[in-house]
Amino acid sequence: MSVSPGAVEAGLPSIPATIRPAAIIMAAGKSTRMKSKTPKPLHPLCGLPMTAHVIRACRAAGVDRIVVVVGHEGDAVKAGLGPDVEYAVQKQQRGTGDAILAARELLGLWSGPILALAGDVPLLPASSLRKLIETQIETGSAAVMLTAIMDDPTGYGRVVREAGRVVRIVEQKDASADVLALKEWNPSIYAFDGPKLWSALDRVDSNNAAGELYLTSTIGILVEQGESVVPIPAASSQDALGVNTRVELAEADGLMHARLLREHMLAGVSIVDPTNTYVDVDVTIGQDTVIEPGCFLLRGTSIGEECRIGPGTRIEASTVGPRCRILLSQVVESWLDEGVKVGPFANLRPKTRLGRNVKIGDFVETKNAVFAAGAQASHLSYIGDAEVGEGSNLGAGTITCNYDGYHKFKTVIGSHAFIGSHSTLVAPVTIGDGAFLAAGSAITCSVPADAMAIARCRPTIKERWAAEYHAQKRAEKAQKEV
Ligand code: UD1
Ligand code: CA
Repeated sequence: MSVSPGAVEAGLPSIPATIRPAAIIMAAGKSTRMKSKTPKPLHPLCGLPMTAHVIRACRAAGVDRIVVVVGHEGDAVKAGLGPDVEYAVQKQQRGTGDAILAARELLGLWSGPILALAGDVPLLPASSLRKLIETQIETGSAAVMLTAIMDDPTGYGRVVREAGRVVRIVEQKDASADVLALKEWNPSIYAFDGPKLWSALDRVDSNNAAGELYLTSTIGILVEQGESVVPIPAASSQDALGVNTRVELAEADGLMHARLLREHMLAGVSIVDPTNTYVDVDVTIGQDTVIEPGCFLLRGTSIGEECRIGPGTRIEASTVGPRCRILLSQVVESWLDEGVKVGPFANLRPKTRLGRNVKIGDFVETKNAVFAAGAQASHLSYIGDAEVGEGSNLGAGTITCNYDGYHKFKTVIGSHAFIGSHSTLVAPVTIGDGAFLAAGSAITCSVPADAMAIARCRPTIKERWAAEYHAQKRAEKAQKEV
């Protein structure tokens, strides 16, 4: 027995090594109903393109070869889904049966089961696909198909049974009133016996309301040939939700988020308001962390234990250590060690690295900046292309001038330095360990360790000037009023 890595991930038992399932994912359609310049397979849910979820489910179900059929905006779809699958091109979108035929060149001789499914069913769990594959293998039937029940399956193909046996699928457009009244519908997810799939497709015609080659026709053809078609009820109708419009996209996205949040909560994360919290796939969150409302934890993010995140925080592709506190802030492509405090209203831009117990306070923007343990920038600062040593304190309004319009320059601040409020550090510049900058200084040259630098005008004091000025103005005003 060999075990595919995906199957282990999903906790599914392995399929015998001699039987190798393949999958064909249809993603060539025009997706007119999305009314979008972005091809439907690439519309994202929880941080991944819609069809990438379907690909992951196939992998986790132990599928060996995955062929994605592309056509409309094919190059964009390929680029968006990446090189880990094979692609077949359907030149003209002549229906779902024709889409599957586009993969014949790659899988025409495949002897194992072939999953056929649309790329627009992002909620489909790997376990459902696995069940289809296993049932096909066990029963040796020509096709195993998922079916689902819904009060109003308008738009979907209906499953027609005779004496309990599935005999055909009828598309909405081709259905009589009797068929339209059926509540059992076709989610369009099948496991076929490879050779039987191809021979059934050879017999499909476009004699229907849409003038298309329907994949659904293969079911009726196989039954007529005396082959067995096994229906498997979907665990839930939601699993098979097909996304055709942005309304369904939002619905699927909401359901997927709810599922992900549920998993986090069951693993010991507090989500204060799950209807108002968005966590992408593959985000990890440590135990006893609290996520307050209005948070977005996006792809590539990992949060440690006992953190308090939010409200109103967006974290993307970042690592946050344990016991951090991030309030009303944005963190992008950054790395935070244990006990860091951020916000409110901080903007940590890419390549920010914050050591233990660093504090980044309100209205502080950082970019490509490394703060060693215990350093602080508590208010109103821009720190870019900088290194800040351990325990240094950057006063309110500290600005690194890192850019001359053409090039970026670096600011290096040693450890335990004190940067007085409203200091301007014109890079390239180095401030030595323990140095002290007077508030309001514009620093244009390096400052040695333990030195004090002051770079500002001395105030000029004119005694009594203001009193005399006001007395004169008041007198002028009184004169005018007489
Ligand atoms: C299809 C099924 C319907 C089922 C529904 C479930 C057919 C004829 N109908 O209808 O029974 O209830 O799915 O969601 O199969 N595609 C191509 N090339 C084409 C046409 C479509 O690649 O020429 C792709 C689309 O990109 C899409 C998938 O096939 O990913 C399904 O096509 P779609 O037009 O959405 O079919 P439905 O009308 O939803
Ligand atoms: Ca569809």
